[in-house]
Amino acid sequence: MLTGAKFSFKMGPVRAAWALLSLAPLFVLGVPPIWTQPEQVHLSYPGEPGSMLVTWTTFNKTESKVEYGLLGGRLFEMTATGDATLFVDSGEEKRKMFIHRVTLTGLKAASTYVYHCGSNDGWSDVFFFTALNDSTRFSPRFALYGDLGNENPQSLARLQKETQLSMYDAILHIGDFAYDMHEDNARIGDEFMRQVESIAAYVPYMTCPGNHEATYNFSNYRNRFSMPGKTESLWYSWNLGSAHIISLSTEVYFYLQFGLELLFKQYEWLRKDLEEANKPENRAVRPWIITMGHRPMYCSDDDQDDCTTFDSYVRRGRNDTKPTAPGLEDLFYRYGVDVELWAHEHTYERLWPVYGDKVFNGSKEQPYVNPKAPVHIITGSAGCREKTDRFNPNPKEWSAFRSTDYGYTRMHVVNSTHLYLEQVSDDQYGKVIDSIWVVKEKHGYSSWF
Ligand SMILES: *[C@@H]1O[C@H](CO)[C@@H](O)[C@H](O)[C@H]1NC(C)=O
Ligand SMILES: *[C@@H]1O[C@H](CO)[C@@H](O)[C@H](O)[C@H]1NC(C)=O
Ligand SMILES: *[C@@H]1O[C@H](CO)[C@@H](O)[C@H](O)[C@H]1NC(C)=O
Ligand SMILES: *[C@@H]1O[C@H](CO)[C@@H](O)[C@H](O)[C@H]1NC(C)=O
Ligand SMILES: *[C@@H]1O[C@H](CO)[C@@H](O)[C@H](O)[C@H]1NC(C)=O
Ligand SMILES: *[C@@H]1O[C@H](CO)[C@@H](O)[C@H](O)[C@H]1NC(C)=O
Ligand SMILES: [Fe+2]
Repeated sequence: MLTGAKFSFKMGPVRAAWALLSLAPLFVLGVPPIWTQPEQVHLSYPGEPGSMLVTWTTFNKTESKVEYGLLGGRLFEMTATGDATLFVDSGEEKRKMFIHRVTLTGLKAASTYVYHCGSNDGWSDVFFFTALNDSTRFSPRFALYGDLGNENPQSLARLQKETQLSMYDAILHIGDFAYDMHEDNARIGDEFMRQVESIAAYVPYMTCPGNHEATYNFSNYRNRFSMPGKTESLWYSWNLGSAHIISLSTEVYFYLQFGLELLFKQYEWLRKDLEEANKPENRAVRPWIITMGHRPMYCSDDDQDDCTTFDSYVRRGRNDTKPTAPGLEDLFYRYGVDVELWAHEHTYERLWPVYGDKVFNGSKEQPYVNPKAPVHIITGSAGCREKTDRFNPNPKEWSAFRSTDYGYTRMHVVNSTHLYLEQVSDDQYGKVIDSIWVVKEKHGYSSWF
């Protein structure tokens, strides 16, 4: 009897499956999705104290609402509304989606909020975030990396857990997403944004564009992210703790077909932003100036990338354009940029303080104590389908530490004089394989001498 019961129990699903198969043409795509269901939820910091921006996607037009409240308080006590923009991908199918943006304001610094987003036609899962502490004495912690894809995203699991454990106040993704967001009529972009929701819905996910975003003039990148400023997330700056963080597009040096004027616009904006950040009253409270851009000025990988050449476009500019285009090294040096974060090379490399291809250690014993030039970190090994890159066996004297392990970087801006960086290896189960303290009693151009 027992076996008989088991048998007939087993037959049920089998018969059901046959019944389904006979209707196969109707069912191969499964049940149609709910086009009004919010997905791909992610946060960014608009740059105004007490604010947070929630961005998400639906495939049909709906209202854009975030319902939120303090952790431990009444759920969804408050409502904020925003709007949606229609994004039509440029692939063959011309897929349409609505990108919703809602800015929360008046948040209490350092308080944790619980939220969901959507409309009465569909709500997301419930997430939480901590409003950024806007004190200049606050010591923010970051995870940062570039070159993270849908396939082989080696660092993602550890980043998910650490982010959900509140180890980071913000994440910096230094270009190259998904590989590539536009592929399969932008379904690869959708899938990437779904995959990173597990981190990006909990802390501000701050980005800059990389070469893998270039298709259709960076339209997937420009439409899906919501960075501060009015440049469609291409270049912008923001402040956290004692740091002024500048995000830029190195791609303006390479994709001239999208407009040489973008290169000059960005350069002019960078100059103005750096000038403002260097006003004595500003630099006094936010002494650290940190830049992030996708393609490095220097690297010792064995590919033929821009950073392997002495005449790197990013570093030295281009003289084959009219007018000729200035590079970024002199600009950043002149305005006393402290730390420059890069990716693109699928490796990790730390440089001794460097300017003009020469090393300017603080001292031989303590190269990062009062360094006489900016400190460069290249961290593009978060994991993607292109695997990791290789190093050239004879690096120049500015190369201090190199690793081909998958991984990412942690940065802690401790106070006005101390900044800590460490490299996590995913190949070695989260082991910290490199770390430095950058210590500066003085910041700005005059600190180089
Ligand atoms: C809802 O979205 C789907 C997928 O983009 C589309 O096929 C359908 O026409 C849309 N319906 C409405 C009412 O907009
Ligand atoms: C923000 O950080 C500062 C410096 O650590 C701290 O003194 C202050 O209490 C924090 N603010 C809040 C609201 O927790
Ligand atoms: C590419 O996009 C940028 C940013 O929106 C825009 O300024 C530029 O004109 C576009 N280039 C072309 C060729 O459409
Ligand atoms: C232009 O730049 C290239 C390297 O990118 C360099 O070899 C060449 O000498 C430069 N030409 C002039 C006229 O400066
Ligand atoms: C910079 O400092 C490091 C670490 O002490 C040392 O190995 C290297 O030779 C120094 N480089 C120069 C050019 O002084
Ligand atoms: C800054 O932080 C470092 C490292 O924790 C500490 O040794 C130093 O005393 C701090 N400086 C100030 C001014 O608080
Ligand atoms: Fe890249």
